[in-house]
Amino acid sequence: MYVKKIELQNFRNYEALEVIFDPRVNVFYGENAQGKTNLLESIYITSMGKSFRTNKDRDMIRFGSDFFRIKITTAVERGVHMLDRLINASNPDFDKDKKEESENIVELAVNQMGKKGIKINGLKIDKLADLFNLIYIVIFSPEDLKIVKDEPEKRRKFVDRELCQIKPLYLSILDNYKRTLMQRNMYLKGQNINEAVLDVWDRKLSEYGGKIISYRNTFVKKLDLISNSIHSEITAGKENLRVFYESNIPVSGSSEDIEMDFYQELKSSRQRDLKNRTTSRGPHKDDLRLQSGGMDIRKFGSQGQQRTAALSLKLSEIKLIKEETGEYPALLLDDVLSELDKSRQQYLIESLEHVQIFITTTELSKDVEQALKHIKYFHIKNGAVDGIVDTI
Ligand SMILES: Nc1ncnc2c1ncn2[C@@H]1O[C@H](COP(=O)(O)OP(=O)(O)OP(=O)(O)O)[C@@H](O)[C@H]1O
Ligand SMILES: [Mg+2]
Repeated sequence: MYVKKIELQNFRNYEALEVIFDPRVNVFYGENAQGKTNLLESIYITSMGKSFRTNKDRDMIRFGSDFFRIKITTAVERGVHMLDRLINASNPDFDKDKKEESENIVELAVNQMGKKGIKINGLKIDKLADLFNLIYIVIFSPEDLKIVKDEPEKRRKFVDRELCQIKPLYLSILDNYKRTLMQRNMYLKGQNINEAVLDVWDRKLSEYGGKIISYRNTFVKKLDLISNSIHSEITAGKENLRVFYESNIPVSGSSEDIEMDFYQELKSSRQRDLKNRTTSRGPHKDDLRLQSGGMDIRKFGSQGQQRTAALSLKLSEIKLIKEETGEYPALLLDDVLSELDKSRQQYLIESLEHVQIFITTTELSKDVEQALKHIKYFHIKNGAVDGIVDTI
């Protein structure tokens, strides 16, 4: 999958923009505060329905405007359909390896009331999840380089975001869990607590929570396999990487088994929850453990090791999306290349030959330029693209 074209209206500092992208490498360059990250943000939001920088959709409306609108066209290459192959089996002129491109158009608009409207190929959708299996995006920013040493919440978000992209159903389970957790916590903070009522919350919470843990567990097992091999390539075989799901609820058996275990855990921690007036157990407290050679990278790894592990996780994310959905995501690299040393930069670029890349930078190093070969440069100045250059 690749992003073919974007049109913006009143988005951040862009009053109006229409650009066609390269299916391979797009570089947004220019001085600070000109709108490079804003452009990445506009691409990202059409994939997840929300920004990676703000939870307030209205913040993205151009100052002084009433609304913003984004229209994005993506293209997917598809092989010839099986049926066509069968029908044309004896036709010597039929090219069975022919690739056909099919396009999708996503439109997203937000007004000053905070109301968001999304259309896919002209049809209104009302569930965000309908968007998720259309445009796959992975973003990598200096913030993500800290994922290994950051607080557990960042790693949970990483897992949750990926699960939303590959399992659109996951979002509604996660939303239900969060809402139920909030209600249970509110109930615990109230007066005159009735334990039978609390039990109703426990049943609901463990039902959603069991599913979340089960999804996360399967995801992390796959992530572990992929990232281990990528990490060993990046470090030229010197280091390995293991990723484990650390849940505070026993993770074994089916999602129903986990649900039962979680329910029991809620029961046994009830006195503590009543005393502390909050829910102490559940997937909202989970974490990932990252290990190299048996060592916990978070606690004992050097800064370089932690950053390399973050890079391995990001590259695994791309591979996992491809394996699970059949499509490569587009990769957004926000100011991250200059944060990596030369060999890591080189590895990143060389391993992404099937992936559409968007890079923001104030200046591009010659090494990267040579490794990338074919690049389309967009000079970004004051909320506008004021020059596009191709290099081959
Ligand atoms: N809602 C908005 N309306 C108008 N302008 C906005 C809005 N939100 C942000 N901006 C402008 O966008 C600018 C930041 O743009 P962006 O983050 O894309 O910069 P950048 O080119 O990535 O810079 P850097 O190289 O520093 O990362 C801000 O300085 C601000 O003036
Ligand atoms: Mg920026």
